[in-house]
Amino acid sequence: MDRHFTLLVGSVLGASEYVADAIAEALRTRGYKVTILTQPDIDDIDEDSTWFICTSTHGAGELPDNIRAFAAQLEDEDLNDIEYFVVGLGDSSYDTFCYGAMAMATLMDKGGATLMADPLHIDVLHHPIPEDRAVEWLEPILDTLD
Ligand SMILES: Cc1cc2nc3c(=O)[nH]c(=O)nc-3n(C[C@H](O)[C@H](O)[C@H](O)COP(=O)(O)O)c2cc1C
Repeated sequence: MDRHFTLLVGSVLGASEYVADAIAEALRTRGYKVTILTQPDIDDIDEDSTWFICTSTHGAGELPDNIRAFAAQLEDEDLNDIEYFVVGLGDSSYDTFCYGAMAMATLMDKGGATLMADPLHIDVLHHPIPEDRAVEWLEPILDTLD
């Protein structure tokens, strides 16, 4: 299938953007079309695309500011036709480790979207180059994707 992926990025300090760029590169290498949205808005997403959420967590388990409005858009949204992936960045010294990514997955699930692989939660304490971890996780998944 000719998939189009839309990367939906939540980031404060830029680390999740680096991860999204590395994911985009891995996807493009396999011939997939990729769009990266760093100010995600539901109206900007190609309706046939596979969603790929890539977000960090800040505050006390909060989503980054740039993805909060998008998260609010998903409340009560019918997402039955959507297939999605989730990658979260966080720091396990917080007891709210990767809560932002979990919140996004919960919203997607409530809307009826289909999760394509167990979410990856990258602990930046143990993975100082999180984009390497993301690509290492993604490659075998892409091997099995139609
Ligand atoms: C002020 C602050 C608060 C944070 N709060 C959390 C948190 O609650 N949970 C978590 O897992 N990580 C937390 N982190 C870690 C970030 O998610 C981590 O550094 C991540 O790599 C940042 O990615 P970004 O540059 O894309 O925003 C926090 C970091 C900072 C600086």
